[in-house]
Amino acid sequence: MSRRASILATGSHVPARILSNEDLEKIVDTSDEWIVSRTGIKTRHISGPGEYTSVLASRAAANTLAAAGLAATEIDILIVATVSAEMTMPSCACLVQKELGAIKAFAFDINAACSGFIYGLSVAEKYILANPQLKVMVIGAETLSTRVNWQDRNTCVLFGDAAGAVLLGSSDQGDGIVAEKLFSDGTLYNLLYMDGAQSLNPALRNEEFEGSLIKMVGRDVFKYAVNAMENAVRAVLAQAGVAIDEVRLVVPHQANIRIINKLTQKLGVDPEKVYINVTKYGNTSAATIPLALDEANREGRLQSGDYVILCAFGGGFTWGATLIKWQ
Ligand code: ACO
Repeated sequence: MSRRASILATGSHVPARILSNEDLEKIVDTSDEWIVSRTGIKTRHISGPGEYTSVLASRAAANTLAAAGLAATEIDILIVATVSAEMTMPSCACLVQKELGAIKAFAFDINAACSGFIYGLSVAEKYILANPQLKVMVIGAETLSTRVNWQDRNTCVLFGDAAGAVLLGSSDQGDGIVAEKLFSDGTLYNLLYMDGAQSLNPALRNEEFEGSLIKMVGRDVFKYAVNAMENAVRAVLAQAGVAIDEVRLVVPHQANIRIINKLTQKLGVDPEKVYINVTKYGNTSAATIPLALDEANREGRLQSGDYVILCAFGGGFTWGATLIKWQ
């Protein structure tokens, strides 16, 4: 049987503080009815003081190691997908390495916005196929609450903070990453972007400093996201020769329930097979897929041999899909 990069364990972490739509009604001119009908989001988790992206990422990674029964010192490569690290240098991944004590690993970040986690999986897979001994931790982590304009009702209701992680190793039992397709189109960058750095630097944490806040043309993003994810999923299934009916679970990027529902309809997939938790967490960018995958895993929705599809879309634009046979 061919050797593949397989997910050995999953884990996640969300900050304790919950911000409801009713809480948002007190901050901007919005309503629970508007937010739920347009996005499906009811609550999101928001980081408190000191709960930086690297802190959420480290907790998700520690939970993943516990699930795998592995020590941090056994990680060979540590990859963090994020657009909201608390420092520009070092990478978030190096801060996570320090926190975990993953002394053997080399560590680096990936910036592919909401698609970052599946980009990270793709990189991890290549290392593992080159050297089956390697154990690679891939984390998606964000504190987008530090990047939204809390006066802008168009964006502040959409995002939340979270981290999710997977540990990958080699398998020759047929499980693992079966196929993947990644895409980018930089010509469309200005439909969704942050043009400045936000960091621990007190000057850049100034709420008046708009340079580091998310700007988005929501309607255009919506349209591109649905078509792009549909095409990516179809391309991956065609590459693997797998029919959509054979897929046990679709784990899409959790940006908006209407994007997910439209995608479900266009793919002709049974809605029961599509994992949704955007209702609880909002859009946590690179963290949505590993967080959803970990919840699905812990809920027992993934059995050995199941086909799982991950698909993402985000700023850049970046998008793609990954087909996995569960271990
Ligand atoms: N509460 C109340 N009213 C609001 C709010 C709010 N939170 N936000 C916008 N509105 C108003 C607008 O001001 C506008 O009012 P007007 O008609 O008086 O000008 C009206 O609602 C309609 O605004 P639209 O932007 O046209 O609303 P739309 O139906 O397109 O929904 C939304 C907006 C939810 C952002 C939608 O476009 C969307 O989901 N886009 C996808 C964007 C996304 O998910 N981005 C996440 C990052 S990318 C990714 O992760 C894939």
